[in-house]
Amino acid sequence: MTTKPVIAIDGFSSTGKSSISKLIAKKLGLIHMDTGALYRGITYFALQNCTGDNGQINIAQLISRLPEIRLEFQDIDGELQLFLNGVNINKEIRFPQVSDNVSLVAKEAEVRNYLLQTQRDIASKGGVIMDGRDIGTVVLPNADYKFFMTASQDERARRRFLELQQAGEDTDIETVKQNLITRDTIDSERAVSPLKQADDAILIDNTNINREQTIDLILSYIK
Ligand code: DC
Repeated sequence: MTTKPVIAIDGFSSTGKSSISKLIAKKLGLIHMDTGALYRGITYFALQNCTGDNGQINIAQLISRLPEIRLEFQDIDGELQLFLNGVNINKEIRFPQVSDNVSLVAKEAEVRNYLLQTQRDIASKGGVIMDGRDIGTVVLPNADYKFFMTASQDERARRRFLELQQAGEDTDIETVKQNLITRDTIDSERAVSPLKQADDAILIDNTNINREQTIDLILSYIK
């Protein structure tokens, strides 16, 4: 292949999709786009602007305000960081409150449609690795390579717990595991663009291999 490839990486939460995609992008000179960040950006906006007295996100209100949301990635020191209406929200989108609400926002068809063109525009010039839940099935069905990442729930919970612990979060592994299971269930069972392996995606199970081995395995399929 002479032009740079378009690579779709989908899979379950905490399989390392984003960090692995970022490193592969560096090796192959591709743009990396973490599409989960876009859903997190909309969730962050909703938590700031569209909550009722109970603190819950009002989905109807969010949908009516979608046109006010401008999400852009800017390259800061070689990393694409997310800006919401001109403000860098790269750190805020990782807050637990965002993680706890993002699946509920991501299951709305209007939200998904709103983000579809942004994602396709980025891939239109080629040379991109995009990670998410529906990249190989819906966003980029004609991607040159498609991978679907999985690992056991216990292993994913362990990795996520260590990450949170290192970030100074006060949590326990059982809570982390329950959050993963809830998100997996909402993501896999939603009516629109559910999380599932595309028929032509290569399954990568990294329960028993580390990040470098996972990268080598994925690269072994890319010509
Ligand atoms: O990859 P992540 O954990 O940052 O994604 C956050 C949420 O966004 C996840 O629970 C599901 C949703 N998502 C999605 O529905 N479709 C995508 N392409 C990417 C993420």
